[in-house]
Amino acid sequence: MPAEIILTTEVLSAPGDTILEDSLAIRRGSFPQKWQFDGEEDYYRQKNLDSSSIHVFLRYSGKRVGYLLGIPQNEAVTELKPDDPEMKEDLKMVYVEVAAVLSAFRGKGGFSLMMGSLREEALKRGMQRFSLHARINNGLSGVIRKKFKVICSKRIERWPYYNHEEPTDYIEASFDGGRAGSDGTRWPGRTVRLGCSRAGETQ
Ligand SMILES: CC(C)(COP(=O)(O)OP(=O)(O)OC[C@H]1O[C@@H](n2cnc3c(N)ncnc32)[C@H](O)[C@@H]1OP(=O)(O)O)[C@@H](O)C(=O)NCCC(=O)NCCS
Repeated sequence: MPAEIILTTEVLSAPGDTILEDSLAIRRGSFPQKWQFDGEEDYYRQKNLDSSSIHVFLRYSGKRVGYLLGIPQNEAVTELKPDDPEMKEDLKMVYVEVAAVLSAFRGKGGFSLMMGSLREEALKRGMQRFSLHARINNGLSGVIRKKFKVICSKRIERWPYYNHEEPTDYIEASFDGGRAGSDGTRWPGRTVRLGCSRAGETQ
């Protein structure tokens, strides 16, 4: 691979079975095998058929090397509430369900590039905010804090989707105030609220 590599993104909605293989391969190549779950192929096939999903691929030299899946927050709440009861519905929020870059292409701005494309597509759909369960051990939670305006965050010590092996930070953030590019400006990294329960809040 040349020292300077050019990564691009492609954004797809309801792409069907054709890209399922690529997205699964990137996901499986990026996470420990023990973190795969029963029925994951059916789960992601369903997401591929659902036009409310946003699929962002990272490409290098004609190959797909990274993948970001955004789904509506309300859908994520339905799926994850048993594991994270503080998640709240929000029509203007996209949940980042998968973020993965193959190891040979990490640290080259690919995730940031994909987040930029997700932001563009989400804004077109009227969603100004995003949420995710971010790994702490690989620094992703810190990256989100550095790059975006965090609205609230909350730590879960053993996240079932990491096979109960690692903690996660549930973070809600605004796309505004963050920049996708490596040389973009930085939000000053201030978390507005600790805990995401919104108890007593009028929505
Ligand atoms: C987490 C992951 C998606 C990040 O992808 P990536 O393409 O390596 O990330 P990027 O290169 O875009 O880096 C994002 C930011 O992290 C910082 N960063 C990247 N590499 C860094 C390093 N080695 N040291 C310190 N900071 C670093 C940069 O500040 C960058 O921001 P910038 O674009 O403004 O410069 C990737 O490491 C991965 O797939 N990991 C395995 C799967 C996983 O854990 N997914 C997350 C589940 S929650």
